[in-house]
Amino acid sequence: MGVAQECYTTCTKEKGKYWETFSSYGRSYLATLLAFGLFLQTCGMSAAMESKPNILLLMADDLGIGDIGCYGNHTIRTPNIDRLAKEGIKLTQHIAAAPLCTPSRAAFLTGRYPIRSGMASDNRYRALQWNAGSGGLPVNETTFAKLLQKQGYTTGLIGKWHQGVNCESLNDYCHHPLNHGFDYFYGMPFTLLNNCQKNKLPELDAALQAKLWFYTQVIALAVLTVITGKIVGLFSTSWKIVTCMALAGFLFFTLWFSSYGFVQYWNCILMRNYDITEQPMKLERTASLMLKEAISFIERNKNGTFLLFISFLHVHTPLYTTEKFLGKSRHGIYGDNVEEMDWMVGNILDAIDKEGLKNSTFTYFASDHGGQLEAQEGEVQLGGWNGIYKGGKGMGGWEGGIRVPGICRWPGVLPAETVIDEPTSLMDIYPTVAYLGGGTVPQDRVIDGHNLMPLLQGRVHQSEHQFIFHYCGSYLHAVRWHQKDSGILWKAHYVTPKFHPEGAGACYGRRICPCFGEGVTHHDPPLLFDLSQDPSETNPLSPGTEPLFDTIMSRIDKAVTEHRRTLTPVPQQLSLYNIIWKPWLQPCCGTFPFCWCDKEGDSAHDSK
Ligand SMILES: *[C@@H]1O[C@H](CO)[C@@H](O)[C@H](O)[C@H]1NC(C)=O
Ligand SMILES: *[C@@H]1O[C@H](CO)[C@@H](O)[C@H](O)[C@H]1NC(C)=O
Ligand SMILES: *[C@@H]1O[C@H](CO)[C@@H](O)[C@H](O)[C@H]1NC(C)=O
Repeated sequence: MGVAQECYTTCTKEKGKYWETFSSYGRSYLATLLAFGLFLQTCGMSAAMESKPNILLLMADDLGIGDIGCYGNHTIRTPNIDRLAKEGIKLTQHIAAAPLCTPSRAAFLTGRYPIRSGMASDNRYRALQWNAGSGGLPVNETTFAKLLQKQGYTTGLIGKWHQGVNCESLNDYCHHPLNHGFDYFYGMPFTLLNNCQKNKLPELDAALQAKLWFYTQVIALAVLTVITGKIVGLFSTSWKIVTCMALAGFLFFTLWFSSYGFVQYWNCILMRNYDITEQPMKLERTASLMLKEAISFIERNKNGTFLLFISFLHVHTPLYTTEKFLGKSRHGIYGDNVEEMDWMVGNILDAIDKEGLKNSTFTYFASDHGGQLEAQEGEVQLGGWNGIYKGGKGMGGWEGGIRVPGICRWPGVLPAETVIDEPTSLMDIYPTVAYLGGGTVPQDRVIDGHNLMPLLQGRVHQSEHQFIFHYCGSYLHAVRWHQKDSGILWKAHYVTPKFHPEGAGACYGRRICPCFGEGVTHHDPPLLFDLSQDPSETNPLSPGTEPLFDTIMSRIDKAVTEHRRTLTPVPQQLSLYNIIWKPWLQPCCGTFPFCWCDKEGDSAHDSK
């Protein structure tokens, strides 16, 4: 952090120096050009953008902003992510559009608030729960992959998707990455979770599992009653008892199969394009397989232009970590998992270097949202650390859930060792990537992101974000206002989650804080903070302490009204109907319900 800040000051000083040069030349045209040219060169901003760059997007899952070396963590080892920041730009106010995977990633992929695509939920289910649900990223949303595909890019997704699979019938693949602009997909259509590892406490929503359980129980009972009626009539009394016991055993198996035990088979699968390669996946080799796939994609496409989105399964629970990293960090299994991911980042960057693609690749690193404070097992913290920021994953308004690491590198075009504090959003990657690839964003809809290139190249010094809206599901919880003339950063919270226990800073005992209902507090007047002075949101301002309170709030309220006017009703992808497990949509590499396969075999072990 120190080094980067140092450079920032150096660059600013250099700027001053050349302005002096400029005056001493007597304001001649030539001097202006010379000074400007030198300035650009010194800070590495030569506009060497002759050809379209490759795009490499790296996204961590549930990683906190306080979990990385270059964001101030001195005890965790993330040398590769730090190297990326050193060779590029570190964004310190990089904001996720939602504090949870499914909606945040929908926004990232489309450049739009999740509420616009129907990926923001008004019920308790704020993320997709099954591969066999019918919700997901709508077919008529246009991802950045789709835009770049049209510009001649080869596009790939490796890792987590969590944006749905099928809509109406098995294998319609309406929500699948290949239907959303990716030429190649290898990874999990769902997300990693505890259920994917035996002997871990199941993590999937218990109520939903109970519903699934109930569902199959009713079906099984109906079938059994019919069969029992028929069969039992055929036997003598002693055989009747045996038959009934056998049927009871079968019933028990069906229940177990369809619920807890087999969630692993329903959700924890790996696919290559449309093929299921592992059902259930074998966690012990997933990291090395992903890495192998990433490197091979880069090698295959080194001569063309590509967009590769590597969506890590790290550092989500169950934090499966290979032996090489186990017990090596100073922060338990969570730290081990972070360090393993950093090692993977290093390997991918090395592959880019090795192929001579470093200067022709725009590389980006971020996390989908903040670390989960509630993820604990006894005293052991299994979730990320959000540094000085309050709250975490699942909380729509508090900074810890939405302020994430954001790093951009493109040697020769973007300056190195630079820090930018302006508000930026994960949704900005959409128009940025469209611009870099020579495409244009769709004109028939609202795009909430802004092209980052002018800011990253130092051509402008303020981001285009004036207001950013912080949603929890489909509920607006808070608004950030970057007041351009004063530079002050305000944040008003209309709704905040009730912490449990009170004052704990998280909702311990629940998996995640709620967005509405009994579990939240409505604030009138809103809780207002000056984030520029109080980044940890500890001292709410009041009309008594802040003379401009009412003026500020009426400006923010007006922005909310204007924002709401741009929203239109769309089909709800996370409605109960779309969320529920539908047996007929279950991706299955056998004959349902006998779904298991391992097509990877032992081929993965050599790369370990
Ligand atoms: C570094 O990260 C670990 C793991 O999340 C965390 O426990 C620790 O508090 C962090 N340290 C600092 C100084 O931020
Ligand atoms: C890549 O860009 C850096 C920074 O501008 C430059 O120093 C280096 O020589 C370039 N490398 C190649 C192979 O062009
Ligand atoms: C996609 O289709 C839905 C349902 O017809 C519609 O409400 C929505 O506006 C469409 N979205 C876009 C981006 O066209």
